[in-house]
Amino acid sequence: MGHPLSEQLAGQLRTALRQGRLRAGERLASSRDLAVTLGVSRTVVTEAYQQLFAEGWIRGRHGSGTYVADVAPVPPDRVTADGAEVSHGRGGWVNLLPGYPWTAALQGSAFGPAWRRAWRLAAQADPEPDPNPRGSPALRAALVDYLRRSRGVGCHAGQVLVTHGATHGLRLLVEALLRRGDRVGVEEPGYTRARLALSASGVDVVPCPVDANGLIVDGLPGELRLVYTTPAHQFPLGGRLSVPRRQALLAWARRHGALVVEDDYDSEFRYDVAPLPALHGLDPGVVVYLGTTAKTLTPDLRVGWLVADEDIVARVAQHRNDVVDRNPTVPQEAVRFLIERGDLDRHVRRMRHEYARRRAAVVEAFAGLEPPAALRGDTAGLHVVVELPAELATEVAGAAGERGVRVGTLDRSYAGPPTRSGLVLGYGAASLADLRWGCALLTRLLVADG
Ligand SMILES: Cc1ncc(COP(=O)(O)O)c(C=O)c1O
Repeated sequence: MGHPLSEQLAGQLRTALRQGRLRAGERLASSRDLAVTLGVSRTVVTEAYQQLFAEGWIRGRHGSGTYVADVAPVPPDRVTADGAEVSHGRGGWVNLLPGYPWTAALQGSAFGPAWRRAWRLAAQADPEPDPNPRGSPALRAALVDYLRRSRGVGCHAGQVLVTHGATHGLRLLVEALLRRGDRVGVEEPGYTRARLALSASGVDVVPCPVDANGLIVDGLPGELRLVYTTPAHQFPLGGRLSVPRRQALLAWARRHGALVVEDDYDSEFRYDVAPLPALHGLDPGVVVYLGTTAKTLTPDLRVGWLVADEDIVARVAQHRNDVVDRNPTVPQEAVRFLIERGDLDRHVRRMRHEYARRRAAVVEAFAGLEPPAALRGDTAGLHVVVELPAELATEVAGAAGERGVRVGTLDRSYAGPPTRSGLVLGYGAASLADLRWGCALLTRLLVADG
């Protein structure tokens, strides 16, 4: 936003929003009326509204005005003059936990109209009396196209099964193919929810060490039936699985008759680095690919996909049928419209720019870290790791929590004793202003405690 008057107006509105003088659900004056009242041009008001939209303060209902979003005000003592430097978020928290995208963008001025149109169209779908356990054929056809152009995953619709998300895809796969006590490798440190999903299915979860380049293939334990990995952006350390390791992993899978499960949860977002092709594209015979809308749209949507060879898909579909598990039609239709009309691609491109700005703010905030502290995993995804001595990480996360900033710690991603320590900082959920504020608090705490 270039106009100083728009910035002033946005600042004043922000203060009113933070202090609760404008309440959730309240309708704001139209840009025309407010411009007349204030004696400014309508562009000034529109720009201010657009900025507040982008920050998630307000939302628009198509054709029926602009409303205050459901964001709780923070106590007035945390509000500065222009309201721009303090935390907001639900319940007054700044959320720097990993795993959350910027869902305010769904109702923002750039994507909101497409998002609402997709749901309107989806609502016209006839109820499906006997839903296909593989998911809607139309969505699967759209996904074939989307995956080819966005991730180099070549497949046909018979190899695609719609799921409730990446974690659900993993669980379905294991339930359909494995038996109790089968050994399944999981990255260590790794994605806790995947580990929990596997344990709940009764398989034997075997930790597989990772380093800055992702999964250490040379050290893979024996007799694994399957290994679960996040090659595009290792969760949580953030490494990208190098090309030699990709080849070694696929060769290992062939040698041992094992499957590689590729969780491609946030690969749409990468910065300053060329995309690495999905593992699946290199050897579809041994890779099961898992994708999700949890990062590109919202985790609340519960639409993801699994791509595997036809036999595996048939077994998973049979299992789903047996346990009467289905994806509802309407969300699948909404995702299909977003893909078919190019809206999802456009949204991802816009969000890539948006997250790149936030990621730059994080990198800038932590530029002064001195060894052994270091920033890791910032070339992709929506989170970074600030590697720190264990005690310092715990203290800083605790002290930040007391001051309203939630941030994760690395120890939570280990099944066994942690071998690295630090903060896991997600930059998807907080506005740029909140993110800067949260990072400034963290760096101040680091100086004070370090
Ligand atoms: C490693 C990893 N995989 C997958 C997901 C998303 O999973 P789902 O699609 O089940 O919501 C996340 C979300 O934070 C994640 O961190």
